[in-house]
Amino acid sequence: MALIGTDINFAKVLLTQGDLVAIPTETVYGLAANAFDSEAVTKIYTTKERPTFDPLIVHTDSLDKVRGFVEEIPALALQLAAKFWPGPLTLLLKKKSVVSDLVTAGLDTVAVRIPRHPLTKSLLQQLDFPLAAPSANPFGYISPTTSQHVDDQLGDKIGYILEGGAADIGVESTIIGFEDDQAVIHRLGGMSLEEIEKITGSVKLLPHSSSNPTAPGMLHSHYAPTKTLILGDIPTLVEKYKNEKLAILAFQETHNNLEHYHYLSQTGDLIEAAQNLFSKLRTLDNLPIDKIIAERVPDHGLGKAINDRLKRAASK
Ligand code: TXA
Ligand code: MG
Repeated sequence: MALIGTDINFAKVLLTQGDLVAIPTETVYGLAANAFDSEAVTKIYTTKERPTFDPLIVHTDSLDKVRGFVEEIPALALQLAAKFWPGPLTLLLKKKSVVSDLVTAGLDTVAVRIPRHPLTKSLLQQLDFPLAAPSANPFGYISPTTSQHVDDQLGDKIGYILEGGAADIGVESTIIGFEDDQAVIHRLGGMSLEEIEKITGSVKLLPHSSSNPTAPGMLHSHYAPTKTLILGDIPTLVEKYKNEKLAILAFQETHNNLEHYHYLSQTGDLIEAAQNLFSKLRTLDNLPIDKIIAERVPDHGLGKAINDRLKRAASK
């Protein structure tokens, strides 16, 4: 069990001395360390059991501070930042040497985000260094959307969890890089493609941004529960696996004659579905069942990110 509370000053003390603190963001909870302190950043990798070839996102609270650790911000990135920061958007920018190779896994770009959760925003305002923070879960498992999720899996290993309530978006940030002045989506997420394309025009999706499991560097079992998850038509799959103990994860309240039946949003609201996705997956993962049967949601708005996470959870 970790200490859980809303004491920003205590969080600041721990982070300043090189310790880890779990922080709430509007997407998911992050496991934070001083991004300029390599020893502190090392603790992130060991605590999550995360391979050091998987780079971290660096969080701060102003464009001025971002300019302190990136070489340049392309015009398109500035437009996106002006529109969507603070928010669920991460931009890949050329790093300055103050950002260690440990944070970026040797890449010459650093992933940067200004989150909008009020508690974390005020913490960041009080720090004179940015926070490197991946999602606060053991590597490969489902991201945490509550302090309880963090405590359940990493509570023994971290000093403090800042309590910020349930994440209001519920899926990780959308990650955008820039190639020849064009925006490229590296990961679908909490900022919808439709919103982004209003600024950028039509964008390119990197193959692994929509979970092509054969893309190099992408681990199949990302965002995955421990139980096998199968994605498809619920009635067909229930018939196919009728001799096994199943839990069902539907989009809306349909098929509710089945046992262990859960849904993401009673009314079919994609925003609510995203908020519930990771909590539901954790709940189902802890049931005495053999398999989780899930269906895709409508593929627009946050639905694209939800389908992406479901596909990744299914590809083990
Ligand atoms: O919403 C979020 O993004 C949350 C909150 C805590 O900010 N963070 C999060 O971090 O999801 P993480 O570490 O679980 O995922 C970060 C992803 C990784 O897949 C990593 O490969 C990618 O960002 N990434 C980081 N730096 C990168 C870079 N320079 N180029 C390409 N991808 C990068
Ligand atoms: Mg993660």
